[in-house]
Amino acid sequence: MVDPLPHDCETWAEFKQHRGGRRLTLSTREAVFDLNLVTGAWGVVDRHGLQVFASPAGGLSTQGRGTRLDLRLADRESLHGLGETTGTFNHRGAVREFWNRDVLGHSPAIHPGLPSLYVAIPMALSLRDGRAAGLFWDHPGHQRWDLGAGDPGIWRMTAREGGLELYLFTGPRPAAVLEAFTRLTGRTPMPPRWALGYQQARYSYASAAELESVAREFRRRRLPCDVLYCDIHHMNRYRVFTFGRSYPDPKGLMARLRRRGFRVIPIVDPGVKDEPRFGVLRRGQALDAFVRAPGGGQDFVGEAWPGACRFPDFLRSEVREWWGREQRTLLDLGAAGAWNDMNEPANFARPDKTLDPDCLHQTDLGPARHAGVHNAYGLQMARASYEGAVRAEGRAPEAIPRPLIVTRAGYAGVQRYAAVWTGDNSSTWEHLDESVRQLLNLGLSGVPFVGADVGGFLGDATPELFVRWLQVAVFTPFLRNHSNLGTRRQEPWAFGREVETLARGLLELRYQLLPWMYALFAEAARGGAPVMRPLLWHYPNDEVAAACTDQFLLGENLMVAPILRAGAVARAVYLPKGEWFDFFTGALYPGGYHAVVDAPLARIPVFVRAGSLIPIGPVRPHVGTSEPETLALHVWPGSGGRLEWYDDDGHSLAHTSGAWQRRTLTATYGPRAGSLTLGAPTGSYRGPHRRWRVVLREAGQAVRVRIRNQPIPSEWSEQDEAVWFDLPMSEAPVEVRWSATRAPRTRR
Ligand code: GLC
Repeated sequence: MVDPLPHDCETWAEFKQHRGGRRLTLSTREAVFDLNLVTGAWGVVDRHGLQVFASPAGGLSTQGRGTRLDLRLADRESLHGLGETTGTFNHRGAVREFWNRDVLGHSPAIHPGLPSLYVAIPMALSLRDGRAAGLFWDHPGHQRWDLGAGDPGIWRMTAREGGLELYLFTGPRPAAVLEAFTRLTGRTPMPPRWALGYQQARYSYASAAELESVAREFRRRRLPCDVLYCDIHHMNRYRVFTFGRSYPDPKGLMARLRRRGFRVIPIVDPGVKDEPRFGVLRRGQALDAFVRAPGGGQDFVGEAWPGACRFPDFLRSEVREWWGREQRTLLDLGAAGAWNDMNEPANFARPDKTLDPDCLHQTDLGPARHAGVHNAYGLQMARASYEGAVRAEGRAPEAIPRPLIVTRAGYAGVQRYAAVWTGDNSSTWEHLDESVRQLLNLGLSGVPFVGADVGGFLGDATPELFVRWLQVAVFTPFLRNHSNLGTRRQEPWAFGREVETLARGLLELRYQLLPWMYALFAEAARGGAPVMRPLLWHYPNDEVAAACTDQFLLGENLMVAPILRAGAVARAVYLPKGEWFDFFTGALYPGGYHAVVDAPLARIPVFVRAGSLIPIGPVRPHVGTSEPETLALHVWPGSGGRLEWYDDDGHSLAHTSGAWQRRTLTATYGPRAGSLTLGAPTGSYRGPHRRWRVVLREAGQAVRVRIRNQPIPSEWSEQDEAVWFDLPMSEAPVEVRWSATRAPRTRR
């Protein structure tokens, strides 16, 4: 194992050992591990008596330098996670490999049977009869998992080199598995709030003037946007951390853009141009910072955008620290983070497009061949980038800005440092469809901050595809539009007036949802839950929900049912048990069946669970740092409403030393009466928000609202079918009750 993980394993080490005859039994509070010392067969039974994993006799063996492990697959067991993959959401019956690859255009048409992508996470969430368990084989070299393709009853895992380092997690809820897996591998830090806004990239905005004109268009057209990217053409002959002639005054540029509310993030590729006079190269050489060629006598030289280049050995802490210092150049000029690309690492000079397997690393844990640590390279680059950006250097936490680090490659734990985007997809319906499954599986692999290039990277998006893509993407955690050199322009205005108008509405909706998304990120930071969730997360016992892959949940409350096919203007939506409201029209749907809903181009079907509490922010051109005094809280009819609201300054590390605020809000909202309780705040942060504007949705009539029996003013709009009233965000808990002023109307 390459990366020493910050975990509190001691508490897990409490187990009782029992040895009797041919059996060895280890029991913890959660599970019992039972090993037959003669045959090697073993099994794990959870505290509910469910056999979660079992390996047959002879299931573990060595294979040359490697190791093979067989597990039995149970009837109806489905397998999810596995990092970034193409193909099905349930991996059962497939063969997947773990080997980070630079794949241009990861479409089955281009690469049939593609076994792996950029982010290998050898972690699976297994679901059987509604009960979840997890498995993680911590080995960053090559692995191949046959998940019932060869033998439908056997899950065969083979690591090409290295031994077995296996972690098993019991559930039975999916959340318990992810909670434990991310306790081991780490959780995502709170992103800066602006990083949840809309982001625009292009390969490339070739000059500072072009980048500024794009920025102007966003503001002129009132299209919300927070982040702009510089792709490789801003550099001086692709030399990392530089700006070339077409970006003559990067500091001035970034300052001007910042005044207009834009952050700028430049691309950073690992390959350092092999040019003797290049300062980054020289300083790296002085540290002996680069990966060595086979034999170890000299640095390995490969090829990427700069031509010949060397690859920093990010697996060593002094190299990461050095890289962090080099990256300061960008941050000091005003960059708000770094976009780490090509870090599989990609090397054009070899047919396998990466480093020679016999290249040598000097890792923090000793020397290693590249083949044994390949998948950790991108993770450790992202780590260098993140840790470099937040290094205190005498600054107080509130003076350290949160960076946005975006990475293409990664391994288990990458969520600690970076958002992951799914690389070079294509502007095709197939890839739009695939992106949903990809992002869901990444979320189940511990990585909540994920997104795909909106509109597709390769090829030309049609106006219809672009709209449908943006409709999905405004509900995904990382929202960035990006497209390739030579393709049709893909900014939201590039497709004409109608598309621009639709895009504006969607981006405005995204900004309104930011307080909800921020609360979901706080949940991810606390317990490892994905922000964008497959239905199985909340409905593991519902077979239809568990198998559903063309819908997803944003948190527990919003059900997104996107249109993923050309020409479709309606679709079937599965609504699990309970009641659901159409998010836009308020129409009520009973759950537990499929509803067929209309979805003309201007509309994406979105439903909100009865009893939901959703904080809603203002429409604004960018997040900025100033927050409104009044925040809306939409309350939907139903019982058991609950919101864990989280807030902090949104841009610095002050929250890491207690400057955050959390409140539990609960509500019951029936046809005649209801109540809402605002819990007392915890944490020391008290932000600019002074009051909630409570909006009772689907209110067919006016109500009387009281706090401790004292009436407070409220308004009812018949047209909006909503009641609203203001509540201060006080230090003490507040309970507010309301009741109808006349008999209820019959419900639709
Ligand atoms: C890679 C990246 C892509 C980027 C291009 C040029 O293909 O995946 O996003 O635009 O390199 O830097």
